[in-house]
Amino acid sequence: MFKKVFAVSLLLIVAAACQPKKKEILYPKTDLSQAPLIPKPINTVATHSAFGLDQNTVILTSESDPGFEQVGRFLSDKIKWQTGLEVPVNQTAEENSIHRFIYINKANSQDLKTPESYQLYIKNDSIFVNSESVEGAFRGIQTLRQLIPEKSNDTLTDHPLWVIPSGKIVDAPKFAFRGAMLDVARHFFTVEEVKKYIDILAYYKYNKFHLHLSDDQGWRIEIKSWPKLTTVGGATEVGGGKGGFYTQEEYKELVNYAAERHITIIPEIDMPGHTNAASVSYPFLNGNGKTLKPYTGTRVGFSTFDANKDSVYIFLDDVIREIASISPGPYFHIGGDESHVTPKKDYIHFVERVEKIVQKHGKSMIGWNEIAQADISPSSVVQLWNEKKHAQIAAQNGSKIILSPAEKIYLDMKYDSLSTYGLNWAGLIPVDTAYNWDPETYVEDLPIESILGIEAPLWSETISNSAELEYLAFPRAIGYGELGWSLREHCDWEDYRTRLRQHVPYLERMQVNYYPTTLVDWDK
Ligand code: ACM
Repeated sequence: MFKKVFAVSLLLIVAAACQPKKKEILYPKTDLSQAPLIPKPINTVATHSAFGLDQNTVILTSESDPGFEQVGRFLSDKIKWQTGLEVPVNQTAEENSIHRFIYINKANSQDLKTPESYQLYIKNDSIFVNSESVEGAFRGIQTLRQLIPEKSNDTLTDHPLWVIPSGKIVDAPKFAFRGAMLDVARHFFTVEEVKKYIDILAYYKYNKFHLHLSDDQGWRIEIKSWPKLTTVGGATEVGGGKGGFYTQEEYKELVNYAAERHITIIPEIDMPGHTNAASVSYPFLNGNGKTLKPYTGTRVGFSTFDANKDSVYIFLDDVIREIASISPGPYFHIGGDESHVTPKKDYIHFVERVEKIVQKHGKSMIGWNEIAQADISPSSVVQLWNEKKHAQIAAQNGSKIILSPAEKIYLDMKYDSLSTYGLNWAGLIPVDTAYNWDPETYVEDLPIESILGIEAPLWSETISNSAELEYLAFPRAIGYGELGWSLREHCDWEDYRTRLRQHVPYLERMQVNYYPTTLVDWDK
């Protein structure tokens, strides 16, 4: 790194010597500490000057890890998309054209305490994004993207310049797990629709994306050894639409797209309940004793696998093996919720047996909170949605907990009684209610060390395309991004609401159909 920085410094000196003296830019006074960053960083120190992002800016990256160059390219693409500027990455620049550089730097520092920690040093002619890992560098450039103003300044020099406030940011996440879930089973969402959602979540520093790939109304991922799951089970959805599914190649495309954004995909196959579509495809799986037919309504709790048949576990071994082999992340989610027609002892037997299959295929099991009733391993993770006592029991047994309490963080709950989309069984969740709760104290007697993080699920009974998805997800998912990342003392509704209103230019550029709640005075 020093070699490159030294070389660049030399270039700048040579360039300066060979040129008519560069006109000093008189930047307006800035205040980095007032920048509307979401999530809010741990520490921000303003130096009241600026970095001028312009046609002569270059991006340089640490040579020791090619991942840093990928982060540089990602930043360059996003700068082009926002400003139209072409910012080269690691190109040998014309000596007299380099004025300023952004260095994405693999660094070692006492201040970089987690893989996602980063520092941002912004001066007149340089920006350093320091991190120990590529992931941290990626989180750091999201902060930098948010500092680029919407409009260029055309008066400071003879070409447009985007004025980035100067100073220092030191930052790290509160939780290691900051997730969103999308139910692609009740209604199917295309690869492009899912990608758009992931791209927006990455801007707000999410790092997990949970795909709910099967339910009573549809099975959404190709399983080569059991093809009817998609030819039969994939052909239905809520309301009678045509459904759909991802081929394994398409799923891998999503995995890679998310990985480029340092987001891990978590696949979920819901079982032993929520399994009507699977059982319609292969009737031997069925354990509820009823005649099977495709289901396109929105009731829950009527289906179950037969927990006492070996052939069911042979089937599940194939399904989990195939999905695990194309899911590089550490987790496999088995659902486990609302198995109302599975006898309790069968349910417990089932969860314990499936846990072993998940582990055999190299993954840790995640399940909705009901799985805490079984004797699960401490390496399995429990996702709280409705029963706090399940989270408490699981934590006592050593499991980590993901907090997704429906009454606070279910993105499919309506905002208010006038909401066009959504349900209300867990209550209405206006934007301030979504933001005003503390995941660290939400469950009594749950030690902070037991909390892996938070996840915002979006169930799709009432939504079937990006515009409807975005209506429910935004702006609430932006607030959850902050609740997952920022220190408790930095999560202040009044302060957040004034930052959120300044995100309109980004949301509009992304063509996000956010819900314009009257709780926020939007900058329009
Ligand atoms: C759930 O909402 N049934 C997890």
